[in-house]
Amino acid sequence: MVARVTARLVVLVSGAGTNLQALLDACADPAYGARVVAVGADRDGIEGLERATRADVPTFVVRLPDCADRDEFNDRTLDAIAAYEPDLVVLAGYMKILAPRVVERFPTLNTHPALLPSFPGAHAVADALAYGVTVTGVTVHFVDAGVDTGPVVAQRAVEVRLGDDEAALHERIKAVERALLVETVGRLVRDGYRIEGRKVVLP
Ligand code: GRF
Repeated sequence: MVARVTARLVVLVSGAGTNLQALLDACADPAYGARVVAVGADRDGIEGLERATRADVPTFVVRLPDCADRDEFNDRTLDAIAAYEPDLVVLAGYMKILAPRVVERFPTLNTHPALLPSFPGAHAVADALAYGVTVTGVTVHFVDAGVDTGPVVAQRAVEVRLGDDEAALHERIKAVERALLVETVGRLVRDGYRIEGRKVVLP
């Protein structure tokens, strides 16, 4: 991606949207180099959509139950994203797997609450706890056709504490995650990058 003055972000969410909020807050500074042009979700009634509305950012919702099948879900999601001509799509707690044709149309980043390739999938925090690791963390990566398998852009470690339950650990991970996501998106949009095999090269 070649950096341009203010990059257009479309952010997809499925829940509380605290990562989205961190991006919205960062984008309030013109020097950050990006603005959130739309927020999409796979469900109604979530705080993530409220956060967008409070920030005067347009929203769209494409729900799988409203579609005839996954193909239609992917088509409608892609059309909704493409309407905003993003430079970068950010999956920030978005809990649906999108078809390759969707994630390959625009550069697409995901934030994942574990140190990939450990603990991919929807239960990363619980899986790390159950395994008994003493360090887990956050991965920001480009999305490819697999599940949590794309090239890693940035990772940060979080210590697991004795007595942690899933909620406590996830809260500490999310605090690190928000900062890493903001920092990583900012670097990508301001400085550009290239992907060489599995390596994401930042200048
Ligand atoms: C994040 O930890 C994300 O990595 C995971 O779900 C959480 C979403 O948090 N998949 P929020 O909606 O941004 O608050």
